[in-house]
Amino acid sequence: MYQTLLLLPENGILTVVINRADKLNALNKDVFTELNLVLDEVEKSSAIKSVIITGAGSKAFVAGADITEFKGMSKEEAMAVAKRGQDVFARIENSSKPIVAAVNGFALGGGCELAMSCHFRVAAENAKFGQPEVNLGLIPGYGGTQRLVQLIGKGKAMELLMSAHMIDANEAKALGLVNYVTTPETLLDHTRKILETINSKAPLAVAGCIKAANAVYDESKDGYALEIEEFGNAFDTEDMKEGVSAFLEKRKTTFTGK
Ligand code: COA
Repeated sequence: MYQTLLLLPENGILTVVINRADKLNALNKDVFTELNLVLDEVEKSSAIKSVIITGAGSKAFVAGADITEFKGMSKEEAMAVAKRGQDVFARIENSSKPIVAAVNGFALGGGCELAMSCHFRVAAENAKFGQPEVNLGLIPGYGGTQRLVQLIGKGKAMELLMSAHMIDANEAKALGLVNYVTTPETLLDHTRKILETINSKAPLAVAGCIKAANAVYDESKDGYALEIEEFGNAFDTEDMKEGVSAFLEKRKTTFTGK
């Protein structure tokens, strides 16, 4: 069914592979359409507890938006393209299920923006991050100017945005852009292990953490008020009763996501 994505479900973790290795997994309109479809499926499916996004091949996570689609585009068309990209990446950022980027090579332009829209990032040591749009006379359009500042701070983000300078995985880790650096061979296993731990927790509580942490960056929301609300909501869940009882009874929890 999917032309540009490969979907690999295993033990509650759906690995979504951007599958255009010959074009370094550049994001064309079909990738966005299909990412939207996958996000629908992730929301609906009770079998999918969390998601990994990665790129096909050994060279690239995603080398950016597909530049071939930019030629001859009008201002209005370009704005619609940026809006479509921002909307898809906002869906990833606001997903109630954890979505993690496993960055296996170049994460440039839209690729860096895709990785930044995920809840966090794990990188292989050959990963390279950058926003090279100024090389093309462009600026990032899929949220890069905003999320890069959020994740690494304004000074370094300004430098990377203006210079198109690429950073390697270790520098990305030092800047807080990625949580772990692994070998290329262990990248997916390492990412899966983190998600297995997260998947063993109460799903509604995990969703509450995502919602409250995202509110920090949403001016329309009062994050502290939202935290109070989510804290209260947790008391209405079966999993909270199970979690507290299991602790007091010194036994393992069995969460149902209710
Ligand atoms: N859009 C469309 N096609 C892309 C692409 C992109 N963002 N990035 C790479 N490709 C294509 C190349 O055109 C090439 O296709 P071809 O074999 O049909 O000529 C193929 O992917 C392999 O890329 P190539 O440039 O030959 O690999 P490389 O190892 O020499 O260089 C990069 C790797 C990542 C440095 C280089 O591909 C690059 O600079 N890509 C664009 C990055 C960018 O500016 N992204 C932001 C876009 S807004």
